[in-house]
Amino acid sequence: MKVLVVGATGGSGRAVVETLAGRGHEVTAFARRAGAVFGGRSGVRAVDGDATVREDVDRAVRGQDAVVVALGISEHPLRVRLLGSAGTPLDVRSRGTAAVVAAMREHGVRRLVVQSSYGVGATRDRLPLSSRVVFALLLRPQIDDHERQEDAVRASGLDWSLVQPVTLTDGTGEAVVSATGDAAGMRVSRRAVAAVLADLVEDRGDHQRSLAVSGTRRGLAPDARQGPSRTASPGQAGSS
Ligand SMILES: NC(=O)c1ccc[n+]([C@@H]2O[C@H](COP(=O)([O-])OP(=O)(O)OC[C@H]3O[C@@H](n4cnc5c(N)ncnc54)[C@H](OP(=O)(O)O)[C@@H]3O)[C@@H](O)[C@H]2O)c1
Repeated sequence: MKVLVVGATGGSGRAVVETLAGRGHEVTAFARRAGAVFGGRSGVRAVDGDATVREDVDRAVRGQDAVVVALGISEHPLRVRLLGSAGTPLDVRSRGTAAVVAAMREHGVRRLVVQSSYGVGATRDRLPLSSRVVFALLLRPQIDDHERQEDAVRASGLDWSLVQPVTLTDGTGEAVVSATGDAAGMRVSRRAVAAVLADLVEDRGDHQRSLAVSGTRRGLAPDARQGPSRTASPGQAGSS
């Protein structure tokens, strides 16, 4: 498949580009400095562009089969909270996603997979207390933008999936995927989340759904393990 990854140079974006390319897809990596990261990488086409600029997004979306959005602000969240972001608008997730949705509608691209965050939308009330404190004190403006981003995705009329990971790490391990908002451990590796994103691109039927992605099966309520939950490892398709 031809797959566009928007926000391709962040930790999550890089992981999903590598996962998709490793599975043989034709990947277009889009970010403001995509060429600096992916230039010369075989199997990956790097496109430099700004996700908030409709013409840039149009150019990248045209001719794709599916789009993954992993937009975010790469700067330290404390700096962003205290001083604002140096180079990225605070509403980049919602504005960039709105531009992607508009371009997909115009060019007839239907499949959209968007990385949001656990604690947004349907999982807003499921956060443990410690995470609520972090969200309130440190992340609130960025989480509010994830809320607007999710609204834009739900209203898009596209074949969308929202992925809501808990805290991301650069480690390894399995992901637990839940359609009912259950989370086991509150940490999950970017590589395991990338495998979930890639599974969704390949169309596992989770359309018009939000999926919580957490880090370990341990601690998940027994009834939640059946049906809506499944595990996915890096480099391995999710299994029911
Ligand atoms: N960190 C966590 O624990 C955690 C947990 C759950 C969910 N999330 C969410 O997961 C998402 C990805 O997080 P991450 O930490 O893996 O990645 P990240 O480091 O925040 O990367 C963000 C990506 O967005 C790109 N980007 C930003 N502004 C852009 C623009 N105007 N045009 C094009 N590209 C732009 C960046 O590239 P350039 O700046 O080079 O353009 C980069 O590729 C975020 O939305 C985050 O809120 C994070």
